Order: sequence, then structure tokens, then C-alpha cells
Amino acid sequence: MSIIRAGLLAYTTVLNGLVDRGREVPARVLIGQLPSLKMMSIRYIVTQMTFDLCDVTGWPVMAPEAGGDDDKDWLSPPDIARESQRTDWWLFKSAKFGELWARGGVRGGSYRRRDDQVEKIASHLAGLIGLPAARVELALRGSEEGIISKNVALVDWDLQPGNTYLSEFEGYLTCDTEPAQRPKNRVGHNLTNIGTLLSGLAGPPESVVEGWPAFDVFVGFLVFDAWIANTDRHALNWGILSKGNELRLARSFDHGSSLGSGMSDMQIAELDTDEKVESWCRRGMAHRFENGKKRTLVDLANEGLAQSSQLAWQWLDRIRNLDRGEWVEIIRSIPEMSEEARSFTDKVLVTNRKRLCDGN
Ligand SMILES: Nc1ncnc2c1ncn2[C@@H]1O[C@H](COP(=O)(O)OP(=O)(O)O)[C@@H](O)[C@H]1O
Ligand SMILES: [Mg+2]
Repeated sequence: MSIIRAGLLAYTTVLNGLVDRGREVPARVLIGQLPSLKMMSIRYIVTQMTFDLCDVTGWPVMAPEAGGDDDKDWLSPPDIARESQRTDWWLFKSAKFGELWARGGVRGGSYRRRDDQVEKIASHLAGLIGLPAARVELALRGSEEGIISKNVALVDWDLQPGNTYLSEFEGYLTCDTEPAQRPKNRVGHNLTNIGTLLSGLAGPPESVVEGWPAFDVFVGFLVFDAWIANTDRHALNWGILSKGNELRLARSFDHGSSLGSGMSDMQIAELDTDEKVESWCRRGMAHRFENGKKRTLVDLANEGLAQSSQLAWQWLDRIRNLDRGEWVEIIRSIPEMSEEARSFTDKVLVTNRKRLCDGN
């Protein structure tokens, strides 16, 4: 065995150990965990510092996904493509495009949004603070770029959106409708109802916080959302797992609308001072919650913390104790992201951490 090969073997063994212990590690390593991904070359691990694309072109479609605004498919690595292996299915989400508008309402072409890149970044940021979230890999399906998000429903567990359970609550208005019919003010999607629903439930099975009260984990989702500027935590973007009579909060998923993913590079370039980025962050409202249009994401997270047990305050501590370099490395590992977008993403994380942790 060559020295390089022996070194790599030791390297991946250590990293696999980290994964087993529930710690997140960069995707270029996680990819080695998946039986059917086209493996990156050994040279890749040694020389590249970017996340690899997982080629899912040949993966069979196991089921369509009815949720979300665009059509999506559940795919499986071919060698384990069985209903009984549902836990190993991945949801493919294509990269999105936005419209550019010129003066006078004239269409000026389209630009590539960063939902996929941001979803990948968010999954690693969640890993940094031990927040249970879906695993995400950058993916390629034919010529289509996007991400795959690993099913958060474990074997024998059924996943339903929070919306399904909240619909039993008096006065709750469902958001599972055509976009135009969605309630403008998300009546009933509030911390009182969510607290009642989650009361007595525990955190996601097989996660490091599975022994925690579910509400303390949910508050972790809110703290995380405030940190990454996720404005899309509606009641179809979090869920409950059930097995027989047992209910549990599911891992977090769909973080594609965070970190200004919908902005073009031109719009980002306009936010060229710390003050402008800060005022952008302060406009991040919790509008997917009842009366959330008047409340910032940070205010909602603080409201959740005030209603939770001491455990939930650990989410703030974990964010406070991060070295900036830890997230900078994640941002740098995204291939083909403009320098403006990288710097903006970093600044948002710095600014929101300050707002959350220092109260300003
Ligand atoms: N990792 C996941 N595990 C299980 N279900 C998921 C996962 N990701 C998404 N879903 C389901 O698919 C639906 C659509 O996916 P989502 O990521 O929310 O897409 P969109 O960006 O279109 O809202 C979600 O509402 C949820 O029901
Ligand atoms: Mg969604």
C-alpha cells in the first residue's frame, strides 16, 4: 500500500468515526459514506477544498413529492432502491432561477439563484451547532444542477407537516393551498399552539438531542433561522414523525430561502458596507408566523427562548462559541459562488450572531 493510500485510509477512518458520533463533517467526506455515489478520486480529497457534486443521473425515481411549490422527485441510490429503504431516499431539488427586471417593468433576463448552495451551507451550519437537520449534498441530474436532501423520516416513522397537526387547532388557517390562497397572516401558526402541540414530545429520533423536549429543539430551529436569515419556516417546512402512538419532532429541512438566496449578485453588490448588510438583516421578518410581519426573526427566536427550558439557551451558546473560520471554510467549499456572495453570506452570519447573542 502506498503512503498516500495508507494516509487516506487513516484519514477517512477518523472522519467516519466523527460521522458515527453524530458530528457533521464536510460533504467531500460524507460522500464516501454513500454506497452509490460516484466517488471522487483519491486525488480529489488530497488537493481540492470544495464540496463534490453527487451525480444522481442514473438514480431511479422512487416517488414524486407532492409538497413544495415545484415538482420534485424522491431518488434512491440504485443498489438500495427499495420501499423498505425509504430512509435512504433523497429529495432532488433543482437550482432555481430568478427574473431580472430593467427600468419600466421590462424583463432583463434571468439569473441563477443560490437556494441550492445555501441549502448545502445551512446543513453544515446546523452540523456546527448540533442542530438536527437533513443531510444535503450538491447534486447533478443530467444537465440539471441542484441538491439532494436526505429523508428525515426514519424507517417505520411517518412524517407529516406541522400544518397537518395544527389544523386540528381551533381557528388555525391551513397554508397547504395554492400560493394565492395562503393566509396572509399565518393565523394559528404561533408559539402558543406549537408549544401545546409539542408538549410532552421529544426531539428527533437518532439525533444528539433526542432526549430533549421537542419545544426546546424547535426553539433551536428558530434561533438557527434568525442566524441564517431563514424567512420561510412555515408549517409545511417543519414536521412531526409518528410511530404508533409516539410522536416526535422531525429534523429540520428546507433551508433554501436563507442567507439572501434569492438575490442576484448585482443586488448583493449594492450591499457594500457593513451598515447596509446590517439593515438588510434587520428587515428579516418572521412573516410565516402569526403577526410575524411585525416581528423580526431575532425577536421570534427570543420569544421562543423565553418560553423554553434552560436547555434551549444552549443554541445561543453554541453559536456564540463558534470560530468565524468554521463557517468561512464551509462557505469557501461551495464551488462557483461569487466572491460578493461569499462575503455577504459571512457578513450575515457575523451580524445575526451579534444581534442574537449580544442583543444588538
Ligand atoms: N429531507 C427531507 N425529508 C423528508 N421530507 C422532506 C425533506 N425535504 C423536503 N421534504 C418534503 O418535501 C416538501 C417539499 O420540499 P421543500 O424542501 O420544502 O421544497 P420547497 O423549497 O419547494 O418548499 C416539504 O414540504 C416536505 O414535506
Ligand atoms: Mg418547503
